[in-house]
Amino acid sequence: MYPLKNVESMKNMPKKQRKDKTYCLGIESTADDFGVGIASFTGEILANKSDSYIPAEGGIHPREAARHHAEVADKVLNDALSAAGVKPRDLSVIAFSQGPGLGPCLRTGATVARALASYLNIPLVGVNHSVAHIEIGKLKTGVVDPVTLYASGGNTMVTAFESGRYRVFGETLDIALGNCLDVFAREAGLKHKKGLPLGAAVERLATEGKNLVSLPYVVKGMDLSLSGLLTATTALLHRGSCRLEDLCYSLQENAFSMVTEVTERALAHTEKEEVLLTGGVAANKRLQSMLSVIAQEHDARFNVVPLEFATDNGAMIAWTGVLAYRHGLVTPLEESFVKLRWRVDKVDVPWIQ
Ligand code: ATP
Ligand code: FE2
Repeated sequence: MYPLKNVESMKNMPKKQRKDKTYCLGIESTADDFGVGIASFTGEILANKSDSYIPAEGGIHPREAARHHAEVADKVLNDALSAAGVKPRDLSVIAFSQGPGLGPCLRTGATVARALASYLNIPLVGVNHSVAHIEIGKLKTGVVDPVTLYASGGNTMVTAFESGRYRVFGETLDIALGNCLDVFAREAGLKHKKGLPLGAAVERLATEGKNLVSLPYVVKGMDLSLSGLLTATTALLHRGSCRLEDLCYSLQENAFSMVTEVTERALAHTEKEEVLLTGGVAANKRLQSMLSVIAQEHDARFNVVPLEFATDNGAMIAWTGVLAYRHGLVTPLEESFVKLRWRVDKVDVPWIQ
């Protein structure tokens, strides 16, 4: 991740600088949210502000989302700084989501981060977005060494720390869990109500489902596939022979059972004592309850990241920036290009013993 030749250790800094400058500002812009968070070096989250791009219809259009981010960047930055009561000159490091994500969105965040770091003459740290989802979950729940299910609109993976990195024990072979729910919701004509995500609309209808409809269940080894499930559920929807509530219920039961099965296998294999659920789909109560059952069966503690930090947010980037920087890792400007497919298992995490 961060080439060692470029490491600048805090240990080499003058003592005064180390003591006085202890805030990291983190910028998140991988997809539809532009977020800015401020974290202290001791793990306090002083601000977590964001502004979301909501498409008029359909899924995210990357260039439209990037334009949105450029338009709101100034306001979100100012909101975060005033919420934290921190002046730009008090910042010691700027962190940004370097990947994975949508190119135009990532580039907008990276440009803001580079401009800030250059203007303030402070270091820049490129953060892996998936690592950040895990680290903020650990910070906010107190778990130390979990098997993590990270499920969002663009990612679905089961990870655990082993030999210096978060290893991927299982993942989706096609679409992500959140995307599966969102696409089905759109096909069913469900809308973002009062800013509520589409997944939440599916969850609400699912609670009124009574009949479990037979649908594809695809776990291959440690990986899973959701696209066939989505196609089959959508086909039944358009045939009109099933209640929408029953389809939402059955879609959730199948999809959540698949990710739970993979998580359980990773737990059995690693013998870890904690399970962490993170990413936007972590808000779902049915998914939480399935995971909590398997955790209990393996004598592991189940933890879910608080909602504010489950979806994409700047605070998780700021906090992961702190972890990296405190371990002497910085990203020189010339290496701060965005990485659209930056996998979690390619990232060294030297702050974990
Ligand atoms: P990433 O880059 O991590 O993939 P993202 O912007 O796609 O980011 P998040 O902001 O982490 O994803 O999460 C958004 C997803 O979470 C959406 O797919 C949304 O429908 C889903 N979601 C939110 N609330 C719920 C819920 N209650 N039940 C199921 N899914 C939910
Ligand atoms: Fe995310």
